[in-house]
Amino acid sequence: MTVPRPPEPIPGARLLFSLDPSVSHLNHGSFGAVPIAVQRAQQRLRDEMESNPLRFFTQGLVDRIAHARRHLATFLGADPDGTALVGNVTAAAAVVLQSLALRPGDEVVTTDHGYGAVALSVARECARTGAVSRTLPVPLSTTDEELVEIVRDGLRPGRTRLLIVDQLTSPTARLFPTSALVAVARERGVPVLVDAAHAPGMLPTTVASVGADFWVGNLHKWAFAPRGTAALVVAERWRERVQPLVVSWEQDAGYPTRVEWQATLDYTGWLAAPVGLFTLRSLGVDRVRAHNAALAAYGQRVVGDALGVAPERLPEPGGPAVAMRLVPLPPGVATTLDAARELRARIADRIGAEVSVAGWNGRGYLRLCGQVYNTPEEYDRLAVRLPTLLARG
Ligand SMILES: Cc1ncc(COP(=O)(O)O)c(C=O)c1O
Repeated sequence: MTVPRPPEPIPGARLLFSLDPSVSHLNHGSFGAVPIAVQRAQQRLRDEMESNPLRFFTQGLVDRIAHARRHLATFLGADPDGTALVGNVTAAAAVVLQSLALRPGDEVVTTDHGYGAVALSVARECARTGAVSRTLPVPLSTTDEELVEIVRDGLRPGRTRLLIVDQLTSPTARLFPTSALVAVARERGVPVLVDAAHAPGMLPTTVASVGADFWVGNLHKWAFAPRGTAALVVAERWRERVQPLVVSWEQDAGYPTRVEWQATLDYTGWLAAPVGLFTLRSLGVDRVRAHNAALAAYGQRVVGDALGVAPERLPEPGGPAVAMRLVPLPPGVATTLDAARELRARIADRIGAEVSVAGWNGRGYLRLCGQVYNTPEEYDRLAVRLPTLLARG
């Protein structure tokens, strides 16, 4: 069986990062990696802040945040007036949930591909308000058309107050047909929150084309922003109702400033985030996307081959730009959260490779990412050593 050719490397790209060269960093998707130029830009902003904190916070910071927000929103293809910067997608999802003012009898519908912390946030908001949550099971082999039908059948007009779907899922690295799902929900009068944690920088889809009521995405993953940089995009009809989790002096400023301003925080990451986009653009956004997706496909295939997984049994991500791919682990391996965490740590310790391991619906999966700092040899090395590590148990 021939393995697809890996992409041509992007020369010098690894040198843009300060990653430990003795480790294969094959899990960009979890916490990203911040290019050195972005780290430096943020440090310069911190130096400015520390040279006169009072001036930094009181003279023009709100406007500087608005300027960064407009720049980032334009990159995302989002309405700048509907965009608020937030710390991360988990926080953005919590803002949306509590702004809905759920009541007993209301329900929130999700799928079993959703992100764990967002599911916990839904559970807490339901417990607090008397609403209920319902999780729709979506088998890994489901086609886009079947998925749309599952969601259509799963919504209860008048009762379902929110549908949450992921643009690219975390445990299963699956691209969901978000525009079609939003259209179905709209047909049934159900508002939609799209969790697009991985979309900015990786996927070419614009926020406007998804058309969701609420869209949340991280810039600190694939858009090279400092950690703590995410966007919440709210459709016009909802903006008045969206409230921050923490009330601040900017409460009367309206959306988005009242959501963004959270008192004395370090906002330098947001101000430095455009430098992440500059880095991405200097490498060539399309070139980076194509490289990363091809490298992830290569990695999936060589590691899958090493574990004896037939190519047709390797899960397809559902789109050409996806730079995260799954490799099924042997049955019984890493099926629980604890076992997955233990295996991830063991792979890091023994093989020197950072990967994501997750149990999903009774099966353990390795999730491999491709990024400009990765080389095909890193996946080859993992493929050579992983079978022995798994055999030792
Ligand atoms: C689909 C999805 N949603 C939400 C998150 C949470 O992101 P954050 O930790 O930045 O809140 C992640 C993180 O990997 C994710 O994959």
